[in-house]
Order: sequence, then C-alpha cells, then structure tokens
Amino acid sequence: MKSFLEESKKNKKTIGFVPTMGALHKGHLFLIEQAKKKNDLTVASIFVNPTQFNNQEDLDNYPKTLEKDIELLESVSCDVLFVPTIDEIYHKNVVSNKFDFDGLEHEMEGKYRAGHFDGVGTIVKTLFEIVSPKNAYFGEKDFQQLQIIKKLVTKNQLPISIKGCAIYREKDGLAMSSRNARLSSEQRKVAPIIYKILKKVKKKFPEETEGEISEWVENQFKNHPFLQLEYFTIADEKSLKPINIKEFDKKYRAFIAVFAGNIRLIDNIQLKY
Ligand code: PAF
Repeated sequence: MKSFLEESKKNKKTIGFVPTMGALHKGHLFLIEQAKKKNDLTVASIFVNPTQFNNQEDLDNYPKTLEKDIELLESVSCDVLFVPTIDEIYHKNVVSNKFDFDGLEHEMEGKYRAGHFDGVGTIVKTLFEIVSPKNAYFGEKDFQQLQIIKKLVTKNQLPISIKGCAIYREKDGLAMSSRNARLSSEQRKVAPIIYKILKKVKKKFPEETEGEISEWVENQFKNHPFLQLEYFTIADEKSLKPINIKEFDKKYRAFIAVFAGNIRLIDNIQLKY
C-alpha cells in the first residue's frame, strides 16, 4: 500500500482516508463521498481491529461482509481499498500501545470498555503511517473516538486534518451502525427510541437540570423488555467531562449507550440553550 500510494504522492495528489471495520452502510458511504469531494484519491480500509474489542464475543460476532463491502465501495467510486491482515498490522504481537489522550480516554466509553481507546489509537496511528492521508474522515456517532483521534494527531504532530461527519440515521432515527445488522426484529423495532429520547433531552436541556434529565432518561429504560441503559451523560464537547453547571461559552452533548440483548448501541446529540 505504501509503495502503491508513493506514486500518487510524488504527483502531489491529495489523499482522503476513510478507515473502517467493514460491514459498510450508508454512513460509511457518506464519509467516502465527503472524501471524494475534497481529495484527488480516496482510500478506504477494512480491518476488524482485535485490540479495540474489550469483549471477545463482540469481536467474534462482528459482521464480516467483504464482498458486499467491495460492491458498495465501487458504487460510490472509492479509488483504493486496503484490507490488511492481522499479521501485516501487528507482526505477530497482537497488543496495543498505551496512549495518553489527556484524560479523554477515561470518560464514558473509556469507563465501560477497558483498553478500547489504546486499541483505536494503535490501529489508527498505524494506518495513518501507512496511508499518510491529507484528510481523514470519521463519523460523529463515535464522537469520543473522533475527539481522541484529533488529540492523537495534535500530540503526534501528524500533518493530517481530521474531519468529523454528521451522524447518518435510518428513516426512523436509529443511528447507522454495523452492529444494527445483529439486532433481532423486536430489538430493531424498539431501537429508534434511543434517538427519540435524545431529541427529548435536547428539548429539556434549556429548562431542566442535568440531574432531572438523567433521572427522566433512566426512567424511560426502567423495566424495558428489550433495552438496557448502560450510561447516559451530558458532557462538554471538548473535555468530554460531565457537565457541572451550564456555562454559556461551552458546547454540550448528550451521550448514551444502550444494550439490546448483548448488542451495544451508542448515540449522541448536540445540545443548545
Ligand atoms: O470507528 C471504527 O470503525 C473503528 O474504530 C476505526 C476508526 C476504523 C478503527 O478501527
């Protein structure tokens, strides 16, 4: 991949990069489209990165649909697809490096998915070294990941611009995710409630305290037959620290993680007041 891209770099072609774990959906294709608009060459990667999974069952069941993914990438005229093997990335040592993301890694997902962001940091840094893109595209569904990758780039002084792209949703509001393919029909039917709740939170935010809103959210999931709340938090977009008192010069977001059986769904929404 490095030598293949060398030629393009010699010719001063700009590279836009969309790293993925496959099982592509419209949200990924939207990222490819954004990359294609602003770069001479668009590179996608598919690599199910074992070190970012804190749960073996989640890794084992992660959907793998390479043939379909290739068709989808062709449908949006993605220029290059990189599908490395585990050995090519990890050289027989499948462990992650340790990263310090100035505390971003200890909030939310970091509390519930031990080592997850070390795994993400390891693979994204490795892929950036191989592809050395000018721009790299990530979805805001994984907003914490997006902020962490921005931090990775700043701390390592990488000449890469990280572009966050709005969450792509199904018609009924469910945030698109490769894991949605694993939902049973009952789980799929009720899952859009997650976004409905976030929209209600957005309405409540100007008038109610964080405590009141959190209690309301918890009640929505109490005794729910299919969904179980893992966490709900309102946090500062930059530091990702939970809100203390509302400060007018800060931007806030509501973040949620919910289990449908053993399938974990996350979502978030920007708040205004
Ligand atoms: O968001 C993802 O799909 C993954 O975390 C990423 C960024 C491709 C790293 O494996």
